[in-house]
Amino acid sequence: MELEQGYEPDDEKRAGVKVVRTKIELRGALEPFRRGRIALVPTMGAFHEGHLSLLRAARQECNTVVCSLFVNPAQFGQGEDLERYPRSGARDRELARAEGVDFLFAPAPEEMYPPGFETWVKPARLALELEGVIRPTHFRGVATICLKLFNIVHPNIAYFGAKDAQQLAVIERLVRDLDLELEIRAVETVRDEDGLALSSRNAYLSPAERRVALALPRALALGAEAARDGGDPVATARTALDEEAGLKTQYVAVADYGGRRLLAAVRVGKTRLIDNVSLKGSRT
Ligand code: PAJ
Repeated sequence: MELEQGYEPDDEKRAGVKVVRTKIELRGALEPFRRGRIALVPTMGAFHEGHLSLLRAARQECNTVVCSLFVNPAQFGQGEDLERYPRSGARDRELARAEGVDFLFAPAPEEMYPPGFETWVKPARLALELEGVIRPTHFRGVATICLKLFNIVHPNIAYFGAKDAQQLAVIERLVRDLDLELEIRAVETVRDEDGLALSSRNAYLSPAERRVALALPRALALGAEAARDGGDPVATARTALDEEAGLKTQYVAVADYGGRRLLAAVRVGKTRLIDNVSLKGSRT
């Protein structure tokens, strides 16, 4: 697509983030900006620096930034944390404004899944391993909502975090398999100073649980180091996790998601945490 050099959204829109609740309104609002490059940053809200780094990447590269904020019921399984998932709409709106987001798309569940909804995108092989074993309908929900968002926004570029490496791989596969006309950008994981990857779910952790949770990034770093020295990253990370009594390891694995990564999922109390690191530069 030909893009005009120096094209900028008009001053009126730049004056603040516009909150949009319906698909029809968003489509209409975006119409004048189609000459420029449109970014989409899909999120479930409760913004932290990880989300903000996606918004900044989008702001740098695109003329118009759309951020979707939708706690997608379809990607939560029975007994998962849909009801208690953190929601902080007013704060998110202020952060979106501060990052120069043009449109914050925050639809109600019925807007995305009206009565009678029955068509799903069901990713296959990639969605069956790791997270897919523990959350069998998760990636169906993620792929379906992302395809819907892509169809509503028609972004030139959509931004996703490497923090959710398997999700990123599923989305890249979706774009290739269904011939979608957009680019996917991966943004590196943002971590707290203590190494814990930022996640909306970190809010569930008590201070004691948070200390336990630090074993996850530590184990992955040790695994990556072992791989660099020609050792076994999975065995090394698993041993390190086993040494931390307060957590349950769900999986530790190496997967090739456009580059080899070491991934793990643990439970600390009631909270599930996932994380991964690149094995680029390792000998195995
Ligand atoms: P959510 O968990 O809100 O994450 C939104 C985006 O932020 C995802 O692309 C995720 O990978 C990225 N992200 C989360 N933590 C990050 C971190 N510490 N560093 C960098 N990026 C980070 O992922 C989802 O929502 C949903 O599944 C969604 C794609 C919106 C579909 O509903």
